[in-house]
Amino acid sequence: MKSIAETKDLKILPRHLSRLTSRLSGLVDLEDVTKIYNQGQANEVIALKSVSLTVAQGEMVCVQGPSGSGKTTLLSIIGCIFSPTSGRATIGGKKISRLPDHFLTRYRRELIGFVFQNYNMIDHLTVLENITLPLIPLGVSPRARERKADQLLEKFGLSHRKKFTVNQLSGGELQRTAIARALINDPPIIVADEPTAHLDGKLSLEVVDMLAALRKDGRTVIVTSHDPIVSGHPEMARIIEVRDGVILEATPAG
Ligand SMILES: Nc1ncnc2c1ncn2[C@@H]1O[C@H](COP(=O)(O)OP(=O)(O)O)[C@@H](O)[C@H]1O
Ligand SMILES: [Mg+2]
Repeated sequence: MKSIAETKDLKILPRHLSRLTSRLSGLVDLEDVTKIYNQGQANEVIALKSVSLTVAQGEMVCVQGPSGSGKTTLLSIIGCIFSPTSGRATIGGKKISRLPDHFLTRYRRELIGFVFQNYNMIDHLTVLENITLPLIPLGVSPRARERKADQLLEKFGLSHRKKFTVNQLSGGELQRTAIARALINDPPIIVADEPTAHLDGKLSLEVVDMLAALRKDGRTVIVTSHDPIVSGHPEMARIIEVRDGVILEATPAG
């Protein structure tokens, strides 16, 4: 028979394990990552060159750099849109380098909320339909989809726009819809590509505040931006400067 102490230890073990996995679930770790578009062809572009970067669970960081420097490519690898050409990438505890596409898609659905630069909404669908789209491949019932969406619509002040098609929304509403859609799967990692590019100062601050609030929920938040409202936000832990596919420096924000 086991002693009481041993039994207690056994009881504690699953809790330790779940803490460990939750700590890993927001972790982003890139090592020597290179991304080459159109490799071996006349139009080959080396978009990232041996980039190494670690972002801890619960951290919010800003990736900054001129147009064409590789920000979206970096975010796409972190966001499991595609794997690196070479190097190692661990996202949310999963190794995504050299993975078949169907695994990458699965990890993206599990781990990532992607806020795309051009929103990637389907114009003729309603706010509700756009937000719940990521739940359809997971086999979630229409009622359960709507219930989840209602909570997010409420949280982002969009309930009155639920049945509007997205082409009827203002810029601020569209960006809030994009963030709500990124959250519908409750992912541990949020990536946002220049989320304030189309917004004025007041709305920009609102959007960064929203992203920062997600970090407080324990999510990891990675944002690309040139906007000082984003990079200078008090919750921003680091600014990662990218030039010509290389990380120049990672400095504390502020
Ligand atoms: N799908 C693609 N095919 C070929 N080249 C691309 C593609 N996407 C981006 N690039 C090139 O890769 C480089 C980095 O682009 P990108 O990551 O979009 O930079 P940023 O987001 O900083 O503007 C640029 O030279 C761009 O032209
Ligand atoms: Mg870009």
